[in-house]
Amino acid sequence: MNTDLGNYRKSYEKQELLENSVSDNPMELFQKWFHEVDEHFDVGETNAMTISTIGGDGYPKSRVVLLKKYTFEGFIFYTNYDSEKGRAIINNPNVCLSFFWPAAERQIIIKGKAEKIAENISDGYFESRPRGSQLGALVSHQSEVIESREILEERLKNLEIEFEGQEIKRPNFWGGFVVKPIEIEFWQGRPNRLHDRLRYKLDEDFNWKLDRLSP
Ligand SMILES: Cc1cc2nc3c(=O)[nH]c(=O)nc-3n(C[C@H](O)[C@H](O)[C@H](O)COP(=O)(O)O)c2cc1C
Repeated sequence: MNTDLGNYRKSYEKQELLENSVSDNPMELFQKWFHEVDEHFDVGETNAMTISTIGGDGYPKSRVVLLKKYTFEGFIFYTNYDSEKGRAIINNPNVCLSFFWPAAERQIIIKGKAEKIAENISDGYFESRPRGSQLGALVSHQSEVIESREILEERLKNLEIEFEGQEIKRPNFWGGFVVKPIEIEFWQGRPNRLHDRLRYKLDEDFNWKLDRLSP
């Protein structure tokens, strides 16, 4: 195979990102960008983000998860703690999150440390999920090899019978992680590849330092 994509080219012209328009705290800029994209651009799932973890084999691995909450402390998503990513995080909490919103010509890259959130917060979120998603979390031994799809469907049927009429409690292998940022870069596509890149980095006194990076 020899597929040349050299002609795939796009000029980014929609917006700009200048120092005089941003706040001192990157979480405020994150909130501003998130709302703008959510309200004015069709990007499908605005809260879909890529999380990269470093596995025991030394390789990074990336996959998409959904951002479910963000605060000044960080970014929360939910997953199976025994999954490949869950185990990777327990061994090495250093992760990278990224958002790409093509319709807005924006990218955000976040380096940070992931840690499990408090159990009662995970309980609360699990309770709020539709019953089908609750059962799905119980059924799936995420990231494990499985013989066939039928096995999953069989497990689901059995659990539906077992839990009929009962509340489903959060299993302790499932819950949230919060990614506490140490660095957040905002990328706005601009014409002639002269993109705007503003990077916030936490210094030793836990103050955010802002720098412009060369595109
Ligand atoms: C749009 C989208 C949203 C997803 N959201 C989640 C999520 O919130 N949590 C999750 O564990 N997996 C989610 N997944 C599935 C993950 O990408 C991944 O397949 C799964 O978590 C297993 O990853 P791992 O084996 O590397 O741990 C999502 C996938 C897509 C494409």
